[in-house]
Amino acid sequence: MHVVTQQVIAPPARAGMFLVITVDEGAEDAAAALLTEISGLTRSVAFRVPDDGLNCVIGIGAHLWDRLYGEDTRPLHLHPFQEIRGAKHTAPATEGDLLVHLRCREMGPCFELARIIARRLVGIGQVVDEVHGFKFFDERDLLGFVDGTENPEGDAAVAAVTVGEEDPAYAGGSYVIVQKYLHDMTSWDALSVEEQERVIGRSKLDDIEMADDVKPANAHITLNVIEDDEGNQLQILRDNMPFGEVGDGTSGTYFIGYAADPGVTERMLRNMFIGDPPGTYDRILDFSVAHTGALFFTPSIDFLDDPHPVARDATPAPDPAPSDGSLRIGSLHRRTRERGTR
Ligand code: HEM
Repeated sequence: MHVVTQQVIAPPARAGMFLVITVDEGAEDAAAALLTEISGLTRSVAFRVPDDGLNCVIGIGAHLWDRLYGEDTRPLHLHPFQEIRGAKHTAPATEGDLLVHLRCREMGPCFELARIIARRLVGIGQVVDEVHGFKFFDERDLLGFVDGTENPEGDAAVAAVTVGEEDPAYAGGSYVIVQKYLHDMTSWDALSVEEQERVIGRSKLDDIEMADDVKPANAHITLNVIEDDEGNQLQILRDNMPFGEVGDGTSGTYFIGYAADPGVTERMLRNMFIGDPPGTYDRILDFSVAHTGALFFTPSIDFLDDPHPVARDATPAPDPAPSDGSLRIGSLHRRTRERGTR
């Protein structure tokens, strides 16, 4: 059967909005009804701006899923985001029942659709975190580095983000983890460009990856290139966006990572916050503090329009993520790293 997926894979947007929403107790039926309206509401705005590529992806958190459709129907890897506490830095887990991820060439259509959704939310829930992201020069984050270069493309992107035969009832869905990071620009700007490049693992001006023999063990890139037991690289799809306010000096990166198995993103996060080996944590965290953290399942459009939750049999579901660090990655998500520098 052909499944219509949400448009998780999209070219880097020029404008974006990230809304994290909580749903009130007792408003479950209304929330479920709102979810069935989302694709229609998106068309109402998108049709009027056909050249702007307005894209709305909706994610549902584990607790809300249980309230709407029953715990026994949970997608295989859906669970609440778990705090990750390293010796120095912590990735907090914060509240969130729904994620609305809006992307567009202009901010106007994002704002219009967000406003329509917010209006429908009255009596159902609240927007508890809202970030308006913008495109910075050359696809750079506010640390000044090009962000997104090594994202998978084409078939590799589809394989990286799409739930497949491992969970047939929810095939075509995806998982997404979001975190709002604020940068300490004073400390960052005090570093020389060479030191900053050693934090990221790539050159700043021309975005070239450092050779393996010079790239530090605690560079962001080193800790985020991970492989399965057979040496295949495990990938996620990121669409981070800068945000900030000059008046209060806030500079941030809104991290958003889609994956067919959130265990891949969680392993990257453990590498970043705890370190690999433990203690060798990601140096980017000395300049970037995570203020939020949440995990959502993004079902197919077919599911959103006409939910058909499927109860699992009596076999216990394998989530939350296994403590042995194994990843349960299907063959669909495998790709061998084929770059020359490593
Ligand atoms: C403060 C937040 C973050 C910033 C500013 C940031 C920035 C960057 C930059 C500049 C790159 C290099 C260019 C590229 O390939 O995109 C990169 C790569 C990458 N980042 Fe991040 N990142 C952040 C958080 C995260 C988090 C939380 C994860 C995972 C959970 C992550 C996963 C990755 C991955 C997988 C790569 C590509 C590695 C490769 O294949 O070479 N990033 N990031």
